[in-house]
Amino acid sequence: MDLTAFVNDNRQRYVDELVSFLRIPSISSRTENKGDVARAAEFLRSEMERLGIASQIFPTAGHPVVYGEWLGAGPGRPTVLIYGHYDVQPVDPLELWKSPPFEPQVRGGALYARGSVDDKGQVWLHLKAFEAWRKAGGPPVNVKMIFEGEEEIGSANLGPFLEQERERLRADAVVVSDSPMFGKGIPSICYGLRGLAYMQVDVEGPAVDLHSGSFGGAVNNPANALAHLIAKLKDEQGKVLVPGFYDKVRKLTARERKEVRRLPFNRKEWLASAGSPPREWGEPQFHVLERIWARPTLEVNGIWGGYQGEGAKTIIPSKAGAKISMRLVPDQTPEEIERKFTAYVKKIAPKDVKVTVRSLHGGSAFLCPTDAPEFQATERALERAFGKKPVLIREGGSIPFTATIQAALGVPVILMGFGLPDENSHAPNERLDLDNYHQGILAAVYLLEELAKPDPSPAAAAGPPAKSARRRAGR
Ligand code: BES
Ligand code: MN
Ligand code: MN
Repeated sequence: MDLTAFVNDNRQRYVDELVSFLRIPSISSRTENKGDVARAAEFLRSEMERLGIASQIFPTAGHPVVYGEWLGAGPGRPTVLIYGHYDVQPVDPLELWKSPPFEPQVRGGALYARGSVDDKGQVWLHLKAFEAWRKAGGPPVNVKMIFEGEEEIGSANLGPFLEQERERLRADAVVVSDSPMFGKGIPSICYGLRGLAYMQVDVEGPAVDLHSGSFGGAVNNPANALAHLIAKLKDEQGKVLVPGFYDKVRKLTARERKEVRRLPFNRKEWLASAGSPPREWGEPQFHVLERIWARPTLEVNGIWGGYQGEGAKTIIPSKAGAKISMRLVPDQTPEEIERKFTAYVKKIAPKDVKVTVRSLHGGSAFLCPTDAPEFQATERALERAFGKKPVLIREGGSIPFTATIQAALGVPVILMGFGLPDENSHAPNERLDLDNYHQGILAAVYLLEELAKPDPSPAAAAGPPAKSARRRAGR
């Protein structure tokens, strides 16, 4: 059976099905959408079941994990574990959407909806690739699939699940489609992600808002105190001032620095994709891409306190606060950075207000070995689908699952993403390029074939060292 022809003939149906999936508002951060998140999990499970994948929904302390496996290729064949997330980000500000976020619409070759690129479209494409193989009997590798419903809120309940179900999840490689390509028409494999340590700082002063005339000058103001504190976290050029912050930062290799500069980076287009700030900003000794991909940062995500309404109101606010996140790189760990951040904030906190620091969530940075045979299989699959060799990139975003599962299983995690940098994930008018969706299905079809091919590297032929001797997971 010609799988390529089958996929090409079903292009419209793939879009229609994804539209139904996208109609479910599975916003993981909002309690009122809890039922919708559960519905999206069930939507996935029933499709997996229909495709002959033995599937179940695992409840967690938060949203459920959907897991399924098809081991029809047999115990002598490799096993691949496919990961994605079916939860989506909130939609505000709603008024900026040209079409409602959960009423998907095709415009100019792209499908507009919340979750289209991040990550429902990239989940569905793997199901459709498996479906194509099933029409031909089944793929030549065993397939396991895990889809989580809490990625967008920090994957807090995934760690315990992975620990508990580690044996069930055993695989020879993990594939994740939840990252962008370098640009349209440039197939990409992402071999690194940043980690995250997300903190909240609360500053409390007087028990109630005070008249700023009656008390101003003799009582410390929590909003001013917070501003002072935040100013001490990072200098004007982007250097983070938390002591020991850079201790564990792994340097880019000379080769990586050279490769970054060979990518077709267009400064003007990049500035436009960043919403056209007057100019780029950050550590001057690093390329823009290096700053995003391989340097840690500290960002204030939100800051509050005091009067925000119309006109003027003369008060000393009782409280102020900020959400502050740090993107991490190898070999920083979220625990180490949370500790250093907390100690530093406590140390610089003015003594005449009460400052509390807490951690909201964290995840480790991720790097994948690019010489793994499964990595090369992915390169071949992408080349077949896109007609050109993929470029190797890193990204600045975070997917906590990647580092956790790579450590837990000891096998490569490969990020074969089909988003575009300007598809507005997390923002209004999120979209998915439909050519990429289609080529993504093809790439996923080819990948299941390429992963079954023996490792062509000379090292594998020469003897049975660690990698090729790894035990098959299907047993
Ligand atoms: N798909 C993204 C991760 C991503 C973003 C990868 C950009 C590559 C480039 C994911 O859904 C996401 O948004 N992750 C959060 C994780 C956080 C909530 C722990 C992120 O990066 O902020
Ligand atoms: Mn995502
Ligand atoms: Mn996301």
